[in-house]
Amino acid sequence: MKTVLVTGGAGFIGSNLVRLILAEEPDTRVLTYDLLTYAGNLDNLRDCLEDPRHDFVRGDICDREAVTEVLGSGNISEVIHLAAESHVDRSILGPQGFAETNVLGTVVLLEAAREAGVKRFIQVSTDEVYGSLGSAGSFSEESPLAPSSPYSASKAAADHFVEAFGRTFGMEVLITRCSNNYGPCQFPEKLIPLMIRNAMNDEPLPVYGDGLQVRDWIHVSDHSSALLAVLRGGRPGEVYNIGGGNERTNLEVIRSVLRLLGKPESLICHIDDRPGHDRRYAMDASKIHAELGWQAGVGFEQGLEDTIQWYMDNAGWLDSVATGEYRDFYSAWYSGGRTTG
Ligand code: NAD
Ligand code: DAU
Repeated sequence: MKTVLVTGGAGFIGSNLVRLILAEEPDTRVLTYDLLTYAGNLDNLRDCLEDPRHDFVRGDICDREAVTEVLGSGNISEVIHLAAESHVDRSILGPQGFAETNVLGTVVLLEAAREAGVKRFIQVSTDEVYGSLGSAGSFSEESPLAPSSPYSASKAAADHFVEAFGRTFGMEVLITRCSNNYGPCQFPEKLIPLMIRNAMNDEPLPVYGDGLQVRDWIHVSDHSSALLAVLRGGRPGEVYNIGGGNERTNLEVIRSVLRLLGKPESLICHIDDRPGHDRRYAMDASKIHAELGWQAGVGFEQGLEDTIQWYMDNAGWLDSVATGEYRDFYSAWYSGGRTTG
């Protein structure tokens, strides 16, 4: 039985992916390696923890000794690397931690994977490494990297290291770059769960700038199935873009959330823009479709409705993650000049 190491498997996308692998591949074991930062939550994996084909190890990807031990422990043939600091706003308040986790952590993992003879290494990256688009066009795998935020700069730097390990050491590395995910278990700092939480509590919905920035939304289950398709069929050394084909302005998304929750638009409150805010992302996902037959299956309207229902059914989960650390982050973030306009 082969074992896949999933870093960041207790986070939003990682936990969805771990569940998918266990369900789809009866002959695969999964080892989740996760530090359980503010964004990691074992509750996200509660139905996987009793599975005899799943193990969990708490640890830091920057800890060389611990990573070496984990990679040497259980016949690990493949790594899917999701562990990261993932929130753009936090990277604006504290870039250094993003360089440490996202760049250094990736290098530590690559070195240890190489030493352990891991066969395949998938780097889970983001469309944000390509920077910002104008009103037309989309990012292809050939688009130049032009990151705007400390977060996307750290992901782009990690991507370069991954490609360098492929070229220099002959490692079988692949990179995926996906657009904005939404779905169950997403930490309520990201647009959709933040707006759902605030609307549920009749609190203001903070829109950065004019709210006309565009994101290409994809349900987390579609991202996970794309990752599994790349793990199994992707060509070594290649980059695969993943997108949902659901371009929406932030205001469109926020109005849909309010309508589905039966809350008034008067909760919308425009505040100062995010510094360095990318205007528009859109992904050309034709390569993964042509080579691996993958395409997104969840329509945005249905996916959003289901996601809102999940948050309403799991209000306890929302309360449990919105801790003192969460409130501290928002008091620091909003005191940085982002006052109501
Ligand atoms: P998340 O913040 O929900 O989860 C990140 C996970 O990584 C958490 O479980 C956290 O505990 C863990 N982690 C953080 N630092 C760690 C460390 N030093 N050692 C071990 N574990 C650590 O993030 P997410 O939204 O699930 O994103 C997962 C990955 O997918 C990230 O690499 C992100 O860049 C990428 N990605 C996210 C999106 C999106 O829309 N959310 C889109 C494209 C790509
Ligand atoms: O595109 C993929 C990326 O999507 C991932 O790599 C990142 O990990 C993920 O966090 C996400 O980044 P974004 O910056 O696009 O997502 P976020 O949810 O933070 O913001 C989405 C849009 O909504 C963006 O234009 C900023 C805006 N926004 C966000 C928040 C949190 C607001 O207007 N108000 C808010 O309070």
